[in-house]
Amino acid sequence: MLLGVNIDHIATLRNARGGIEPSVIKGAEIAEENGATSITTHLREDRRHIKDEDVYTLINSIKTKLNLEMAMADDIQKIALDIKPHSICLVPEKRQEITTEGGLDVAGQFNKVTEFIKPLLDAGIIVSLFIDPDEEQVKASAKTGAQFIEMHTGAYAECFGYKEEEEEFQKLKKSAELAQSLGLKVNAGHGLNYENVHRMHEIEGLYELNIGHSIISRAVFTGLPEAVKKMKDLIK
Ligand code: PXP
Repeated sequence: MLLGVNIDHIATLRNARGGIEPSVIKGAEIAEENGATSITTHLREDRRHIKDEDVYTLINSIKTKLNLEMAMADDIQKIALDIKPHSICLVPEKRQEITTEGGLDVAGQFNKVTEFIKPLLDAGIIVSLFIDPDEEQVKASAKTGAQFIEMHTGAYAECFGYKEEEEEFQKLKKSAELAQSLGLKVNAGHGLNYENVHRMHEIEGLYELNIGHSIISRAVFTGLPEAVKKMKDLIK
């Protein structure tokens, strides 16, 4: 199973001060040096973390693959067609949400999704659809021409350790099986962390996991001892 590292929250931290630190480019480089097989980043319509200049710089510095998460917005489609990332992942987006709350309703907006991804596919960009683990959504996704789905693991992650965990996990397992039987490749992500990620191994054939928040959160604490010691040395 491959690991795509989502670096959006390095940009969240950078933007808190409006400067250039911490660098998303450096973050991507460190992720790649340590086993990331792709770098994922979400260019949101409100540009709350990753900004246009970040994706233009990342596309030239990334050594693995850039996976660009994006909503069905014409200006972002234009950027995707301009930079030509290895893949895009189509996500729903609401301005007020803290993070991507649910999967894309491919079944309910089949024509819109199919038309939106066509120029991206024609440009040779791999297309993935971020959907809830739901039979109707999987079947609709398979008919759009997209090569991948990314299953939203948020519901599973939220009830991990509670009685609903098994039910949510089985939805992921069944959806992955169905998607693969329909010729789709399957990624998964959202809310995966150091406690709940191990069950992804029980899902046969999962291609790549896209993980961000838990990795960046852990990095703060695994990196803090060295950072404090270094400053203490300097001011001695
Ligand atoms: N996959 C998709 C499509 C997402 O929107 C996100 C969050 O930006 C992730 C994966 C990563 O989620 P998390 O930050 O919770 O690991």
